[in-house]
Amino acid sequence: MIIKKVFVLFEFFYLVESNTIFLPNLPLGEYRTVFERVFPCKSTNTFQANLYFSKKTSNITEMKGNFTVLKPLDDSYTFDINGASWSLTGGWKPNAVVYIAKNACSNMKIFFGSAWNSLKENFNFSSYNCPISPGTYISSGMDLKKIEHHNFPKVYFYGRYKLTMKIKDLENNVHGCCIFELSLIRPWEKPI
Ligand SMILES: *[C@@H]1O[C@H](CO)[C@@H](O)[C@H](O)[C@H]1NC(C)=O
Ligand SMILES: *[C@@H]1O[C@H](CO)[C@@H](O)[C@H](O)[C@H]1NC(C)=O
Ligand SMILES: *[C@@H]1O[C@H](CO)[C@@H](O)[C@H](O)[C@H]1NC(C)=O
Repeated sequence: MIIKKVFVLFEFFYLVESNTIFLPNLPLGEYRTVFERVFPCKSTNTFQANLYFSKKTSNITEMKGNFTVLKPLDDSYTFDINGASWSLTGGWKPNAVVYIAKNACSNMKIFFGSAWNSLKENFNFSSYNCPISPGTYISSGMDLKKIEHHNFPKVYFYGRYKLTMKIKDLENNVHGCCIFELSLIRPWEKPI
């Protein structure tokens, strides 16, 4: 059985699509995000996300590191997210979440919503606005809970995800790439 859910976030092309072929009975609901790992993937390194998670107290984990931007990050690029979902029977299944948006910089701002403001403050971007100028932006330590203030649907399928975020040009060359591994859990659940 194929269940197809399409979440329309804002307007015509802000679609987050989820093909739940792999776990037909995967429950859905409001969730809390447990961030597990972040690491870079293959790109020309024009846009580098040198990030790591660091536990500050028993209930606060921070995102630290830096964004190193070698060329203006503007709307000539495409912002591409592909989320694989962990299946107990078959490992990582790609295309559980697919989000592809032209005008990368503007759409990253829209995707991250008020989390973008936190990123701006914590990494000391020169401006809220696009483009992001070349530079190295160093985190003073951003509480991961602030990333949850994004514009992704607040109700989703529980489970483990591997989100690959890419900045591509029109020829599909990847200029920046990083992977977040995370779990969406029920609000009252404890992370394992
Ligand atoms: C940015 O992070 C990378 C990887 O951790 C590190 O090698 C580099 O020195 C950092 N840059 C600055 C300016 O802190
Ligand atoms: C984190 O824990 C401290 C003490 O352990 C508590 O005072 C604080 O309210 C907690 N913060 C959150 C966001 O749960
Ligand atoms: C933030 O960036 C500005 C330059 O854009 C710099 O003058 C300032 O020292 C930076 N602040 C921190 C805390 O790194």
